[in-house]
Amino acid sequence: MKSLLFSRFLLLLPWVLIVIIVLDIDSSRAPLPALAPRGGGGGGGSGSGGARPAAGRAAAPRRPEAALPTIYAITPTYSRPVQKAELTRLANTFRQVARLHWILVEDAAARSDLVSRFVAGAGLPCTHLHVPTPRRYKRPGLPRATEQRNAGLAWLRQRHQHLPPPQPGVLFFADDDNTYSLELFQEMRTTRKVSVWPVGLVGGRRYERPVVENGKVVGWYTGWRADRPFAIDMAGFAVSLQVILSHPKAVFKRRGSQPGMQESDFLKQITTVEELEPKANNCTKVLVWHTRTEKVNLANEPKYHLDTVSIEV
Ligand code: UGA
Ligand code: MN
Repeated sequence: MKSLLFSRFLLLLPWVLIVIIVLDIDSSRAPLPALAPRGGGGGGGSGSGGARPAAGRAAAPRRPEAALPTIYAITPTYSRPVQKAELTRLANTFRQVARLHWILVEDAAARSDLVSRFVAGAGLPCTHLHVPTPRRYKRPGLPRATEQRNAGLAWLRQRHQHLPPPQPGVLFFADDDNTYSLELFQEMRTTRKVSVWPVGLVGGRRYERPVVENGKVVGWYTGWRADRPFAIDMAGFAVSLQVILSHPKAVFKRRGSQPGMQESDFLKQITTVEELEPKANNCTKVLVWHTRTEKVNLANEPKYHLDTVSIEV
């Protein structure tokens, strides 16, 4: 009986080994997921904040990232109780995107310790700038982050002025409280001049979107100020680096600017509606949401420091 079992075992063994080897070869050939986290750092990160390579995945096959245009994300940010939480959400998204360079611009007279520490540990190429909004513009009803976005544009132009021909790149304005899908970055990466797409939860509607006919933008679906030349939120467009460099004077303006008109005022300087490139399946998919974080309740926060330790939140 024993010898019968043993001979059966010997007979089966080679087949079991073959199956194991075939399975092993198959799994090592399996393609990487389309949006696999990137090794980090390779985007040529620089700036005062410095770039930090993300940890791990050293053995994963390298994707031909060098061929991808760099995405520059300009994020204005200001100090408030939820700031670090917002930046954490944003970094967790941006870290998944290949060749993304984050330009974080603090609305402050100096770089804060909180943001400096955050940038140092963010795990993606990051430039940390700062410029304060003049006090007279810090009023409800006035456009926000004008000076910060302009500082980001100035940095970008300065960085590329000595590098003809410019490296392929795409710029977009990423407010710190919005929600960005990873698919959005795939869409904007192919921007030739200026691309547009829908934005969710904005303008008093579930979404706003450019209306597209025969591949061209012919109007805007919006519930708010439909008379805007470009009825689109800051999160709804991207601009190629080439266009930014060939229009060196295009900036966000304080004078005469009303809230909600900043996008139109800026886009008017660099493009026309006819020229816009619709993304997100002819502007029928929402890939970014204009989420706004509720003001936190700190009613029970003590006036003086009571805890035995000092904690950054
Ligand atoms: C809407 C648009 O989505 C913004 O792009 C536009 O700048 C803004 O209106 C405007 O009125 O100018 P909203 O959600 O109302 O956005 O604005 P916030 O998210 O409060 O601010 C936009 C960006 O500016 C954020 O990244 C925020 O951190 C920054 N910000 C805001 C500052 O840097 N300083 C401030 O005093 C306020
Ligand atoms: Mn916002």
